[in-house]
Amino acid sequence: MIRVDGLTVVFNAGTQDERAALRDLSISVPKGQWVSLIGSNGAGKTTLLNAIAGSVPAAAGSIVLDGAERSGEPEYRRSRIVGRVRQDPSAGTAPEMTVLDNLALASRKGPRRLLPAKPAALRRELIGRLAELGMGLEDRAAENVSRLSGGQRQALALLMAAMTRPAVLLLDEHTAALDPRNADIVTELTRRFVRGYGLTALMVTHDMRRALAEGDRLVMMHEGTVVADLSGPEKAGSSVEGLVRMFRDVRGEEYAEDRDLLS
Ligand SMILES: Nc1ncnc2c1ncn2[C@@H]1O[C@H](COP(=O)(O)OP(=O)(O)OP(=O)(O)O)[C@@H](O)[C@H]1O
Ligand SMILES: [Mg+2]
Repeated sequence: MIRVDGLTVVFNAGTQDERAALRDLSISVPKGQWVSLIGSNGAGKTTLLNAIAGSVPAAAGSIVLDGAERSGEPEYRRSRIVGRVRQDPSAGTAPEMTVLDNLALASRKGPRRLLPAKPAALRRELIGRLAELGMGLEDRAAENVSRLSGGQRQALALLMAAMTRPAVLLLDEHTAALDPRNADIVTELTRRFVRGYGLTALMVTHDMRRALAEGDRLVMMHEGTVVADLSGPEKAGSSVEGLVRMFRDVRGEEYAEDRDLLS
């Protein structure tokens, strides 16, 4: 679960460039819920994920993850319970290490570590996980990750982030750099991991069709705060056009300049 209360994040505090990226933001996500997070450029989506993961400090507010207050906890400690996949396929993996070594490293981190007694058993287990991705990576386990395609890397990064069942999975536009076919494959894998493991997930996307189609709940941010929160029949009854209208309402006339919202 995630419970964020009154979260404020300020960049360049005390300087001329001071900017509140999150303003008194509150959101509560029960265990096992999957939230799509949308909002225009600069709304604060990545900053929210960074604050939850501990990579940017909170100026005020509380961040409870998995039942414990974490706002004072350093990022490396939080990383034991927080899985992350970013937009850039090269960010989530170590490119000059093999596919298998990347996976072996990830398998030792997190709440459900894979701890087979013997290296050969771990190897078999990990090769099996690779095969389940359906991308042929089980045959490329000994190759360096730098040789994989963007889609293969993102699938691997997702497997690495999800397989030890983190208490919180943070996905920041993790399909945005992929071609439509690979974006669909990685979305399908996301669905399989989040639902199969009952993960609590926050997924940032600019793809409103995907935001509506996936997950249990849709949250819209604007200027560092939550401006809409739809779930159940309200989410099911929403359309891309309806979301565009909501964007227009919160943004006023600036809207016309922001074409990528409709991507
Ligand atoms: N490290 C930083 N230093 C200063 N300002 C920052 C920093 N990171 C983010 N910001 C500012 O905080 C605000 C929110 O940025 P953020 O990256 O969270 O937006 P976003 O919703 O993820 O946007 P996008 O859709 O473009 O990814 C923006 O005004 C941004 O310029
Ligand atoms: Mg962002």
